[in-house]
Parts: sequence; C-alpha cells; structure tokens
Amino acid sequence: MTILVTGAAGFIGSNFVMNWLDKIDENIVSLDMLTYAGNLENLSSLSNDSRHFFIKGDISDSELISSILNKYKPRAIINFAAESHVDRSISTPENFIQTNILGTFRILQNTLIYWESLGKIDKKNFRFVQISTDEVYGDLEVESEKFTEDNKYLPNSPYSASKAASDHLVRAWHHTYKLPVITTNCSNNYGPFQFPEKLIPLCIINAISNKPIPIYGDGKQTRDWLYVKDHCEAIRAVLENGLVGDTYNIGGDSEKTNIEVVELICKLLDSVQPRTDEVTYLKQISFVKDRPGHDRRYAIDSSKIQKELSWKPKETLASGMKKTIKWYLDNDEWIKNVVSGDYKKWIDKHYS
Ligand code: NAD
Ligand code: TYD
Repeated sequence: MTILVTGAAGFIGSNFVMNWLDKIDENIVSLDMLTYAGNLENLSSLSNDSRHFFIKGDISDSELISSILNKYKPRAIINFAAESHVDRSISTPENFIQTNILGTFRILQNTLIYWESLGKIDKKNFRFVQISTDEVYGDLEVESEKFTEDNKYLPNSPYSASKAASDHLVRAWHHTYKLPVITTNCSNNYGPFQFPEKLIPLCIINAISNKPIPIYGDGKQTRDWLYVKDHCEAIRAVLENGLVGDTYNIGGDSEKTNIEVVELICKLLDSVQPRTDEVTYLKQISFVKDRPGHDRRYAIDSSKIQKELSWKPKETLASGMKKTIKWYLDNDEWIKNVVSGDYKKWIDKHYS
C-alpha cells in the first residue's frame, strides 16, 4: 500500500516522511513544488530507499494530481503543502491564496474524483488528512482557556486566513460529498530541518553566527511549542484511528513567551558551545519593530487526542530544544546550503 504526502520536502513533511519509513513498512509518494521552503536535501537520507518516490509538482496542477492518484493509488493523502510563514504572508499574500486556497481546492477536487472511482472497501478505508494550525483560532486572551476543537475560527493574518479557508473547503468536501477527511490543528513546531526564517532556527543560527537575534515588539507573545517528531506521531495516530469528519488539536503543553524561548536557546548554547569570548549569547538579543497584527497568544488544549487516540508529546521544551540545538550544530553544511540558497541551484540543475 501507499500514502501520498504533499509538501514533503518542507520542515514537517520531511520529518513525517522519514519518521513514517522508520516506523512503518509502507511506500510513500512525496509531492513537493520545491518553493524556497522545499529542500530535497531534507530527504537525502532516503535516496536509496526503494519505498520512497519523489515527484516535483504543484498541488494546484489537476492533471498531475490526477495522474499521481491513478498511478500510485494511495490509501491516504496527508496534505502538508502550504505557504507557511506569517511574515511572508504579510508582504506577499498572493502565493498564500494560490497554494493554501486554490491548491487545496484542486487537490480536494481531484481526490474526490479518485475516491469515487475506488471499490467499496478502498473507498471506506481512504483518508484525506489536512494539516492545519492553531493560528486559525486567532488571538487568545491571557486569561482565556486554551483552544479546543470547538473554538471559532477567527484568523488574523493572511497566512491564518488562507489556512482557515482551506480547512473550510476540506470540511465542505466531507459534508457535501462525504469525502473521508480529518483535520489537525497543531501549535508551533520546532526541530531539525526547519527553514531559518522561523523563530527557533533563526535564533540558533544567528547566535552561532555572531549576529543579532531579533525579537519582535516586547517579546511577550506566547506560543505553545511542540517538537516536530511528536507532531508526526500525532498525525500517524490520527490517520490510523481518528474519526472521519473530526478535527484534532495537537499541542505541546509548553506555553512560553518568545523571550523565554530565546533565553532558553542562548543558555543552552552557552553550555554546549560557548562564544570564544565567553560572553553569554543573551547579549545578542535585539528588540526590533513588531510584526503588524501580531497575535499575542496561542495555546492548545490537546485533551481530545490524548484521551481518544492515546497520544501525548514525549518531549518537553527543554529536552526537544537540546536535540534541536544539537542537530543544528551538527549540520553546518545544511545550514550553509540553506542560507546561501545553494540547494536551489541543485534543484534547478536537476529539475529544470
Ligand atoms: P514549510 O514551509 O517548511 O513546508 C511547506 C512545503 O510545501 C515546502 O516544501 C514547499 O515547497 C511545499 N509547497 C508549497 N506550495 C506548494 C504547492 N503549491 N504544491 C506542492 N508543494 C508546495 O512548512 P511546514 O512548517 O513544514 O508546515 C507544513 C504544514 O503544516 C503547513 O500546512 C502548515 O500550515 C502546517 N503547520 C505548520 C506549523 C509549524 O509550526 N511549522 C504548525 C502547525 C501547522
Ligand atoms: P514564527 O516562528 O514566525 O512562527 P508563527 O508566526 O507562525 O508563530 O514566530 C514565532 C513567534 O516568534 C511569533 O510570535 C513571532 C516571533 N518572532 C520574533 O520575535 N522574531 C523573529 O525573528 C521571528 C521570525 C519571529
């Protein structure tokens, strides 16, 4: 059997594919458009794995999606493909509308045609899993209860609005056409292979490169951090045992302000790789202009998935951060290629 993973060369997608092939002996077709955020080097450990097939392509390309579905006949699709960075969504929203909304519509529509062509048992067992975010719930007041699956969608950024729109399409394709979908809403992820435009890798890389570590505004915004491998395991649990039509919140029970996160990274770096002048990395923290429309707080109540699917995060923020820092320190070649954009040249050579 086979599953199709979209956005598989990105941060969470690549971790998911590697985690899957490590735990489960089932083929994966990876589809990714290889935008600036998609890096085939993330999947290089699988280059000799005969269970893995990579296809460069766009989820908005109906002809391609339809041919992939008919050729590989996946039993499930995990849809990670998206434009994912809030700051980019503020400066260039159009790509977000294109991929997150139109792209999701196209892959849903082609999945529906494929699903309707399946025999009775395959049709019953098929799943479309939509990977979404806690950001669709909007800004949480300091005193408010954490987000549950019953919270209203109140997105505030072009990114979260486009993800909310895609989640609504997924819901409608289930309600109207009975397509067997499940949606997950996860909090902020961190871990290996995250593109260094996001807070945690940016902070680690700037710290060891002796550059300022930018904190937006007062740094008191809070996020609920989850180690990426824990997210991957939650998605596997949802795929295997989640209820069709349901949504599942996934979080790390690890709410921290941005400044707390950055201080943790600086202190861990001080002990594992002190600066040559032995001054603390905390000295590199630099408060900069705030992000427009910056949500103050997100926090996930993950009791539903914990109770119904027996999943819980294995890493605390401290243990996950130690692993993450070690990975970035051990992978300076990956960092060099990402920062210089060299991985894009490789893609252009092999795929143009
Ligand atoms: P990412 O930006 O690292 O990866 C996205 C991947 O999708 C890239 O490899 C990119 O090339 C690919 N892609 C973009 N447009 C495409 C298209 N039209 N067709 C095919 N591929 C395309 O993002 P990520 O952090 O790995 O996030 C993956 C998913 O998880 C996204 O849907 C995001 O909304 C969701 N999510 C992320 C987080 C987080 O903290 N990173 C938290 C919750 C949910
Ligand atoms: P980010 O990693 O971009 O994820 P998201 O916006 O999806 O939550 O940002 C996490 C938090 O860190 C967010 O509150 C914005 C803040 N931030 C900074 O303070 N400085 C930075 O340089 C970046 C990239 C983010």
